[in-house]
Amino acid sequence: MAFATAALQTDLEDGAIQASPKVFSLGNRAVTPARRIGRLEQLEGQVAQLLDRAHIAVVYGGDKSAPGAVIRQSVNARSWKSYRSVAEDIAESLERQGARKVSLLADDMRLGERLQQENVDMVWLNTGGVQGRSPMSHGAAMLEMMGVPYLGHDPLMSGILDSKYIFKQNVSYLGLPTAAFTVWNPASTSNPDPRQDRRFRRAFGDFNGPFIVKPVSGRASLHVHVVDEAADLADAIDAVYSATENDVLIETYLSGREYCIAVGGPVVSRLTCLDRYEEPFAFSAAERVLGEDERIFTSMDQRPITGDRISVLNADVDGSMIDELKSIARSVYEDMQLESVIRLDIRADANGVLHILEANPKPDLAAPRAEKTSIICTGLPNEGMAYDDLIRSMFADRVDLLFCKRRGAATALDGLLD
Ligand SMILES: Nc1ncnc2c1ncn2[C@@H]1O[C@H](COP(=O)(O)OP(=O)(O)OP(=O)(O)O)[C@@H](O)[C@H]1O
Ligand SMILES: [Mg+2]
Repeated sequence: MAFATAALQTDLEDGAIQASPKVFSLGNRAVTPARRIGRLEQLEGQVAQLLDRAHIAVVYGGDKSAPGAVIRQSVNARSWKSYRSVAEDIAESLERQGARKVSLLADDMRLGERLQQENVDMVWLNTGGVQGRSPMSHGAAMLEMMGVPYLGHDPLMSGILDSKYIFKQNVSYLGLPTAAFTVWNPASTSNPDPRQDRRFRRAFGDFNGPFIVKPVSGRASLHVHVVDEAADLADAIDAVYSATENDVLIETYLSGREYCIAVGGPVVSRLTCLDRYEEPFAFSAAERVLGEDERIFTSMDQRPITGDRISVLNADVDGSMIDELKSIARSVYEDMQLESVIRLDIRADANGVLHILEANPKPDLAAPRAEKTSIICTGLPNEGMAYDDLIRSMFADRVDLLFCKRRGAATALDGLLD
């Protein structure tokens, strides 16, 4: 739906931000009425005061080999990455927007001590954890236990989203489209061939391939295999299991085009001016352009995501696809009762029907640079937003949630507000 707002035109390429009246077609149904409602003005004040007065820590993934990080090093059920440089981008953005005290802290067993010593008021979680099982949820679980307000999914939802198996179970239950799937763990069975298994037959019947075999909690397309015939599944499963020591997901291979879409809470900031939509804010619909012989998308760890590999969908040409992607994204956000930004990866089957591949609970929030950009930032200019607007939107949406839905957690911040 198109609407007018007296705001902002942003240009990410030269970093210029210029105020001018502009009509945006955001595809989100409703916006703030002309007379701005009181809560939004109050929220703008809360956001400005918290940036000015709160000590905010951006937490990145701790390294288990660092002295004092863990009691004992264990296995990484999810491939580890520090995400420190992205945490720096987030911190710099907060500082550009008036945050006076921002620290970077590693997510490891000393986190609580450091938060206490440094009087941190609020945490921005940008970590996939240190080691062990469900590591994406460890940071949030510690902060819940310590009583520190944070931006990110709660521990339960972090774990659900980061398990492709549990996430797909939720999505299927909600009636949203996803490819047929099952999970397999070679260490829990004496049967080396999944084809004999009751759950495999229930998921796939007599389907003989092609399949995808991948880690249940993966990232960056690591250890993702295309298996053309069911007879070859066991080898691929063994390869994934030896790399992850975790469950292995088997699903049908989707051969069509691949897309991404981001979705977050309804509070959106442009040039510090807040709007609240009546539904989750879905943005940055993009196609991941696959090369001619590329059956799965090679991720950023192997090849930078350059402009020719990510194509932002254009409302004039791809309007109905954008609508479909946004509708799926909003349904996931609302039906799963999410509270922080995710990026959904979606792929079409041979008939063009879309299926949800996975949700990224901590999408890459790297600031756009000339040489590469994060997928979630590619479509921001179409929304009249720059990177700082996205960071402020996420911050404002969380402040709103804390004060409206988590009064118990927000009391820690009350003393910082007038
Ligand atoms: N069922 C499937 N059918 C076709 N391709 C798939 C399927 N599952 C995964 N892929 C391919 O493998 C890539 C990686 O899979 P997925 O997104 O599930 O895992 P990931 O490693 O967490 O990804 P990311 O790189 O987004 O972090 C996808 O981008 C897609 O190209
Ligand atoms: Mg993915």
